Amino acid sequence: MSATAPAQATITYDGKTAILPVLTGTLGPQVADIRRLQGELGLFTYDPAYGTTSACESKITYIDGDEGVLLHRGYPIDQLAEGAGFLEVAYLLLNGELPTAAQNAEFETQIKQHTMLHEQLRHFFNGFRRDAHPMAIMCGTVGALSAFYHDHLDTSDPKQREISAMRLIAKVPTLAAWAYKYTMGFPFTYPRNDLGYAENFLHMMFAMPSEDYTVSPVLARAMDRILILHADHEQNASTSTVRLAGSTGANPFACIAAGIAALWGPAHGGANEAVLKMLAEIGTKENIPDFVAKVKDKNSGVKLMGFGHRVYKNFDPRAKIMQQTCHEVLRELGITDEPMLDLAVELERIALEDPYFVQRKLYPNVDFYSGIILKAMGIPTSMFTVLFAVARTVGWISQWKEMIEEPGMRIGRPRQLYTGAPKRDLVPLAAR
Ligand code: ACO
Repeated sequence: MSATAPAQATITYDGKTAILPVLTGTLGPQVADIRRLQGELGLFTYDPAYGTTSACESKITYIDGDEGVLLHRGYPIDQLAEGAGFLEVAYLLLNGELPTAAQNAEFETQIKQHTMLHEQLRHFFNGFRRDAHPMAIMCGTVGALSAFYHDHLDTSDPKQREISAMRLIAKVPTLAAWAYKYTMGFPFTYPRNDLGYAENFLHMMFAMPSEDYTVSPVLARAMDRILILHADHEQNASTSTVRLAGSTGANPFACIAAGIAALWGPAHGGANEAVLKMLAEIGTKENIPDFVAKVKDKNSGVKLMGFGHRVYKNFDPRAKIMQQTCHEVLRELGITDEPMLDLAVELERIALEDPYFVQRKLYPNVDFYSGIILKAMGIPTSMFTVLFAVARTVGWISQWKEMIEEPGMRIGRPRQLYTGAPKRDLVPLAAR
């Protein structure tokens, strides 16, 4: 017999007591299971922005925000970024274990079978203005994939789910590269299946029919690492959006399009684009103190982009790897003097010593350096969030798959604290 009773939390309200089971995960804080609360006490819980709500059980990603730890299926992010390729990480997120060499080769082959787009999809691009933001094109074209695979959208069939996951992981880079090419007025470059995943993406972005293009292995590796660093991040805004959409039974292409829409915002995936805009606005190191003063003035509405995180109250472990990758990429490209990098390093130094940021535990997040790397690689600013979406598609689809496979999965349906007008009677228009 166990010596310790199972943990529980007791809540008393209005003369009644509810005993709530306390659940223990493998790592991380325990959680009070409040599902009985409404039935037993007539109470809902109130947690706007879900700061303390565990909306699901998951085995995919673990974050310890105080310690700056990020694990995928138990493996630390720095080990994955150093020792694995993006498709290995994709396999890990989807299936729970790292692939063997044979499984890896088979997975790569399967992904490569799906990199092409239906030719009909080309016409979708013509519907967009040339100056459309590529994220707008991504929202539209990824959602449109559902129209091409409607015979494979039975989410209750594991085989169909697997094919949809493969299609998404394989086709999103092609859509992303074509979104860029379209806005530039350049011809679309078709995927090349003799290239690796990141290499092929760079090829589709930059190759032209008029001349040979060889992808630098250092840049391909850096891109692969950037993809790994963005692959998943547990229940963030876009992933929760994908789960909520998926809980209705919506098809995976529509769900990922919803995730892309959520990712677009500057508080989420749009931050690395915003970091570069911010650095350009600051201009020179001499202007940093004035800018920091503006950030600290709550009335200014200015934030230090690339700093702060809902979960990390310590260094974002991805930011450290990103900073190292940034130096490697600049070295490979022969860029010895990058004023934006100097400015970013100085801004980081000043912010990390400033009591405003120290007290609020605001540290650089993954986006602080990624924009500088991407810019050096020739990726236009408007494509930064698109790249994030390419990487995160793997996390989204893994989380979606996990949710669908959960026994007893129910539609997500939060409740509210209503503070609007009480019931009142309509007064006819003429009498108002
Ligand atoms: N600059 C200045 N002040 C900040 C910043 C920032 N970047 N981030 C947070 N703060 C302040 C808040 O104003 C608040 O101050 P207060 O206590 O005096 O009111 C305090 O720090 C706590 O911040 P919260 O608002 O509780 O942080 P929250 O978890 O809601 O927001 C977020 C997190 C959205 C990431 C925020 O830090 C932010 O806007 N950062 C800049 C945008 C950014 O880099 N986003 C990328 C996130 S990572 C990703 O999606 C990949």
